[in-house]
Amino acid sequence: MAYASITGWGKYLPERVMKNSELEKLVDTSDDWIVTRTGIRERHIVGDDEATSTMAVAAGKKALEVAGLQPQDLDLIILATCSPDRIVPASAAYVQHALGASKAAAFDAMAGCSGSLYALVTAYQFITSGAYKNILVVGSESLTRAIDWTDRSTCVLFGDGAGAVVVQANEHSTDMLSFILGNDGSGADLLYAPGPCGKLTNGITNGHYYLHMDGSEVFRFAVNTLVDVAKQVVAAAGLKISDIDLLIPHQANQRITKAAMKTLHLSSEKVFVNLDRYGNLSAASEMVALCEAAEQGRIKEGDLVVLVAFGAGLSWASMVLRWQPKS
Ligand code: UT7
Repeated sequence: MAYASITGWGKYLPERVMKNSELEKLVDTSDDWIVTRTGIRERHIVGDDEATSTMAVAAGKKALEVAGLQPQDLDLIILATCSPDRIVPASAAYVQHALGASKAAAFDAMAGCSGSLYALVTAYQFITSGAYKNILVVGSESLTRAIDWTDRSTCVLFGDGAGAVVVQANEHSTDMLSFILGNDGSGADLLYAPGPCGKLTNGITNGHYYLHMDGSEVFRFAVNTLVDVAKQVVAAAGLKISDIDLLIPHQANQRITKAAMKTLHLSSEKVFVNLDRYGNLSAASEMVALCEAAEQGRIKEGDLVVLVAFGAGLSWASMVLRWQPKS
């Protein structure tokens, strides 16, 4: 039995920032509505010469640097995304080549906004089984490319960017104390983006593969899931919610986070928020947030951190970490 822990982290946000005031010129909305109903003030938009894979490379390089690893040390790259460069091949293949990670296997993970935590849990399985030693997990999205900029109910929500972590084998202990993965496919049509190929999209032409969301149904699911899954994952680690030093929830809507904080009796110092600056980064959300929490010193050696994601699928994923990046 081998042990695993996160030893490196990095993020990349594209240069272009779109403030709410810019959206006021595109659709019938207002900065006030967006801030009050979602908590979002601005988001980054992928550049014309960028893609999910290029942003993943930028975030991945930083994570490798923090971990003190070379790309050739990697055994596996898992890229979580809802907006791959192409349906085939996996965007992780482009990341592997651009990084020069010649020994690494590479694949994409798709589980909506929960994808990066699905990928992270998978990385722990490969390492604790003894199969691999060094894995790069990336969440990267250029989902604004699938946004209908005339639909005010979705275009104000999403942003682009990438976050990455390195998971490494060590000889002492595993920082992941518990995890939960789940899905309820009966809600699969509540949040979807029909890609340009595949059985369900026959007859759909270019430009008609926009993301669709039943906002209020997904909102209800999100509030309940965030609370239930946080309670379950903390109990599975043999802990109480009051033991937690920092909750890092998927950044979808500040009202979802606030409702959960109230039910879980968590003060704002114990909950990480960057939604105001980035919007909903989908599968990149948890990775960017974890990276920023580490960079800002919001998590210290020995802290108990809970990550909870939810989204299309309808999927959820969560884990408790005892932060020990120097293992
Ligand atoms: O990452 C995956 C998980 N995703 C989520 O968790 C998202 C969950 N859903 C939400 O965050 C919220 O449901 C939204 C932010 C999408 C919508 O907020 P809401 O408070 O649920 O609004 P609503 O859909 O109930 O709409 C209320 C009103 C409607 O007008 P009427 O019918 O009352 O006249 C909408 O047309 O707000 C209107 N509206 C807007 N008004 C101004 C919807 N979008 C906008 C907008 N600007 N951008």
